[in-house]
This record gives sequence, structure tokens and C-alpha cells, in this order.
Amino acid sequence: MDIDLHQAEAALQNSYRANAAQYRYDDEIEVQTPHHQRLAGNLAAISSSFGRRISVLDVGCGTGRFFYCLRNVDRLVGMDISPEMLLAAEQPVYREKITARTVQLIQGNAFFASFEPQSFDLIYSFGMFGHGCPVTVDVCNKFYSWLAPGGQLYFDTVDVRGVCLSRRLKWQLRKMLYHALPPKARRALDQREGHTPFFGLTRRQLNQIMRQSRFPHFAIVSEICHSPLWKGRHLECRAGVSAFQNFTNITPPNSTANPAPESPTP
Ligand SMILES: C[S@@+](CC[C@H](N)C(=O)[O-])C[C@H]1O[C@@H](n2cnc3c(N)ncnc32)[C@H](O)[C@@H]1O
Repeated sequence: MDIDLHQAEAALQNSYRANAAQYRYDDEIEVQTPHHQRLAGNLAAISSSFGRRISVLDVGCGTGRFFYCLRNVDRLVGMDISPEMLLAAEQPVYREKITARTVQLIQGNAFFASFEPQSFDLIYSFGMFGHGCPVTVDVCNKFYSWLAPGGQLYFDTVDVRGVCLSRRLKWQLRKMLYHALPPKARRALDQREGHTPFFGLTRRQLNQIMRQSRFPHFAIVSEICHSPLWKGRHLECRAGVSAFQNFTNITPPNSTANPAPESPTP
């Protein structure tokens, strides 16, 4: 994929530097929403399903909005590229409900970070992929290598079906013009705009990425987000190093064999 990940990191860091305090404030509103509560329930169910204490990695943890949802956790590592978001994560929402025995916050980029193989039982990432951060086969394979036998991955990304047509056309146009520019001009434009590129996907595209990854089992659903802070649609993906237990609002792995009709690729 033709993307300067360092450039994207700098743009994201700038954006979250300015917005970390507001984001932490918004946690208090967001945790009341059906969208958050559904994800929170799934995370609680998945982390409980191991039937033993586990190690967990929250990639792009931000202000630690989901820390309180986890069950049976020995070690929780929250990783983010933004030092300001990590600072806010020291006082996360529902701090009193967090049951993880240890919480370690580290500054790192999902694309460049390294952990020992099989370090975690569960890796999850909410809200990170889509804006400035693409889902790639490489990053999925990294997650795979960090997962222990029986380990599970749960993440979301922006579903382009939830983006209005005029914005999709604008992004499409910008993307075409951008790719026509020579690399030097692209870098200059990125720097001037502080550009965080958009990497929303269709379900079919995410399905293809997951099929090319090392994960033998995965399930994808598209969910409308009901929140006063954000409107749109997310693709949610659960993947396992081995077959995993299904939950009511996650469709079974074989559902990806017959995906819902797609809107055109942006
Ligand atoms: C929308 S926030 C979501 C935060 C949190 N997961 C939540 O759901 O509230 C996205 C977070 O992902 C982080 N992020 C973006 N790209 C990243 C990357 N490549 N590696 C690590 N963190 C990243 C951002 O700094 C930001 O804190």
C-alpha cells in the first residue's frame, strides 16, 4: 500500500495532541451509548471465555475507554502513538471498575511495534483503523504472531457504506489527484494539510485482507453506530488463531463466505 506511515503518525499525533482532553471528556458520554455498550459486552464475554486469567493488548487504546470492560485479566498493555492520549489513559473512565491486575501504558505504533511471539491471549482495537491507519495484511499478521495458541483478535474499522456519497466522492477525487502527484509534491501537500488519509473499507475488502492474513478463522459484521458524538457504520472483525466461540451479535465465521451486497469500492 502506497502510504507513508511515519507521515500519518505525525499527523495523528498532532490531531490527538489538540483533542486528548476533549476525547477523555467524551468518554463519559460515549460509555452510555448502545454502540459502546454492545462492544463493552462483547469484550467482557470474549475476555471471560478463556476461563483463566489472560494477557491483553489494547492497540490504539487512546484514553483507555475500554479498560473497564475486560474480565479475568492479569496483564493489560495499552499502546498508542499519542503521549497525550496515554496521559489521559492514566485516569480512564470507570477507573474503579478496572479489574486487570497490571495496566502498562506504552507509546508505540501498531505498524512498527514489536512484542515477543505469543505474548497475548486477546488483542483488540477500537476506533484506530480507518482514519490515518489502514487495516493491512502485514499488521494483521503481526497481531497473529503476538497471539498465543487459542488467542483472539477483535477490531473495528470504518465501513464506507456509512459514509455519505458526497464525502466518498470527495475522498475518491482527492485520492486520484494525490496519486497523480510526484512523491515530493505529495509529501509537501501532506505536511501543509497535516493530512490524515482515510482508509475506510467495504466488507468485501476487509474480507479479502483477512483471507490473505494468517488468521484461519474470522467473522465480520457491519454495525450502525448510535452515538451523539459520531454517526456512521463500522465493520467489526473477530479473528482467532483457532476456532472461537460465537456470540449473539457476531455472525459465525462461515458468514463471510456469502457477504452482504457491497456498495462500489471507493
Ligand atoms: C479514535 S481513538 C480510539 C481510542 C480508543 N481505542 C477508544 O475506542 O476510545 C484512535 C486512537 O488510535 C491511536 N492510533 C492511531 N493510529 C495508531 C497506530 N498506528 N498505532 C497505535 N495507535 C494508533 C490514536 O492515537 C488514537 O488514540
